[in-house]
Amino acid sequence: MTDDERFALLVGVMGKSELWPLRDERIPEGTPMSAGYVPGVPRLGVPALKMSDASLGVTNPGFRPGDTATALPASLALAASFNPALSRASGQAIAREARSRGFNVLLAGGINLARDPRNGRNFEYLSEDPLLSGIMAAESIIGIQQEGVISTAKHYCLNCNETNRHWLDAVIDPDAHRESDLLAFEIAIERAQPGAVMTAYNKVNGDYAAANTVLINDVLKGAWGYRGWAMSDWGGTPGWECALAGLDQECGAQIDALLWQSEAFGDRLRAAYLDGRLPKERLSDMVRRILRSMFAVGIDQWEPVSAPDMAAHNEIALQIARQGIVLLQNRGVLPLKAAARIAVIGGYAQRGVPAGCGSSAVVPPGGYAEVIPIGGPGLAGGLRNLHLLPSSPLDEMRKRLPHAQIEFDPGISPAEAVLAARRADVVIVFAIRVEGEGVDIPDLSLPWGQDALIAAVAAANPNTAVVLETGNPVVMPWRDSVNAIVQAWYPGQAGGQAIAEVLAGEVNPSGRLPLTFPVDLGQTPRPQLPELGAPWGTPSTIHYCEGAEVGYRWYARTGQAPMFAFGHGLSYTGFEYRELAVTGEDTVIASFTVVNTGDRAGADVPQLYLTAAPGEPRSRLLGFERVELEPGQARRVTLRADPRLLARYDAGCWRIEPGGYPVAVGASAVDLKLAAEVELARRAFRR
Ligand code: GLC
Repeated sequence: MTDDERFALLVGVMGKSELWPLRDERIPEGTPMSAGYVPGVPRLGVPALKMSDASLGVTNPGFRPGDTATALPASLALAASFNPALSRASGQAIAREARSRGFNVLLAGGINLARDPRNGRNFEYLSEDPLLSGIMAAESIIGIQQEGVISTAKHYCLNCNETNRHWLDAVIDPDAHRESDLLAFEIAIERAQPGAVMTAYNKVNGDYAAANTVLINDVLKGAWGYRGWAMSDWGGTPGWECALAGLDQECGAQIDALLWQSEAFGDRLRAAYLDGRLPKERLSDMVRRILRSMFAVGIDQWEPVSAPDMAAHNEIALQIARQGIVLLQNRGVLPLKAAARIAVIGGYAQRGVPAGCGSSAVVPPGGYAEVIPIGGPGLAGGLRNLHLLPSSPLDEMRKRLPHAQIEFDPGISPAEAVLAARRADVVIVFAIRVEGEGVDIPDLSLPWGQDALIAAVAAANPNTAVVLETGNPVVMPWRDSVNAIVQAWYPGQAGGQAIAEVLAGEVNPSGRLPLTFPVDLGQTPRPQLPELGAPWGTPSTIHYCEGAEVGYRWYARTGQAPMFAFGHGLSYTGFEYRELAVTGEDTVIASFTVVNTGDRAGADVPQLYLTAAPGEPRSRLLGFERVELEPGQARRVTLRADPRLLARYDAGCWRIEPGGYPVAVGASAVDLKLAAEVELARRAFRR
């Protein structure tokens, strides 16, 4: 390769669109565009990189008029299924759709831990636990790359809040970081070898993630031996020196030119190379890593493939929604009786289901049912819309309950809604929030007076069920006055059908919470978010003092009872756990039997937890398995703990102290059913 060809591989640019109205001559006319483009080397058979967002489907942010793609449910719903096979299937589906459009890189693999329930992007991430997130992300990445499309893991690392993310310094104890967010990346990378890792916008412990030699050179490429390439986020490369810290490719280069006065890996990097500040070995390494991933995934060997089976992909979206819906509370009103008088209230349930906004928003087949502009400050404001996917819960309920009298009320006035509630046997209130990239929602309340609406309706009719379609936990001041509560997340293009099937009892809910629902923000590590609401561009620092004690680990450490715990979820049947047997030595191996004690088939997700460690409290999810059982059926489950979950990370080494390790099998992080203890010997290991 010539030096020009080498340097061309190091810069990704955006196409001309509503968001970026300037055409970049590095993109040949007629190139199918989405998020980014990197020229290839045609004379050597090195294809150009054509990049599209993201984990929830192939996006079309104004480039391909009329083009649509399968709009998957939120990643939180996928994680709530605790079903790795489903995650792999979802990766295969979006990769087939990406490939059919000529995109050979999917900017999927969002894996940041949901540390903060205000984070507007949590719907694109998976959970608060590194094992669950690592496994589910790995399966999606494997599914994507099996289809010959490069996947990514992002945003490396600790991009757990959105407020002024370009100027945020995320501070954490380095060892605790290895036991939490970095462990999620480590598990996903070792299991799936994503072709690329995308660095985050924020700083970590004082250095920008894209310029962070500890994160990229020492941990990612050194300790973990990662052989792919590190790309930046769009406009996330603050200078050419990022190349020395381990960044291999600058993406969204035009934004860098805007934010930092020049592209980082253009003339400035070239000048550094010419005067020896950028060693030739480093330039070769940058290029080799990109080429290695291209060839490892095979984007240079593409053969024609059949058109994607969109009906099959809709079925995958439906399965994720069905298995991701979490029945939080049910005092008997669900499943609905066939011939009831039902009032359906609010949430635009007559039009469709909400989706998250930002770079991961997918235009579904047939287009959105509605796009209601929400707006707001800064760049994120332009992306902030209530996107309604055309899957109406109301229509779907009417199909499934043909003998019921179902009336709709828009829920815009409690007084009106109360009249509808009084006329009904049962009331289903849909409650929504618009969440998305670039925004941390200041509190956990439902907007637009929905809390007051629910309270008024529940006071008028105690047989009220609330269906939440949100991208995060919410507070529920009305919780004790409603009969049932269902968390449906952003349920994707088949979400209305899945919700109706669960409400009508056609589908037995089996979702389990992938993140804790606090009573209120006072229970969280940061009731006040630093610099929340500060003007765009205000530098801020968040000290993630909870360290590795994220989510359920935090509630265990602080002795707090959350409103709904990690791993919680009810069923229309019942399950029991029996005969726990555990062995120790190198790690914990636990076997137990799960029995369906009810009168209908259902799926359960028994979870194995470490509940303490020698001399200290410690709560860690050690394993889980989704088990589908007929009434009366039993299944023996065996789970083997990853030793890193039993260890502490201490200055470059995982260490297991000798002694007793109590474990428990539970239906959630707090609902522990069977307990045992194993003796473990002292161990120290690197990976
Ligand atoms: C966005 C996001 C990133 C996305 C990229 C390309 O700002 O942070 O997740 O892949 O830019 O759209």
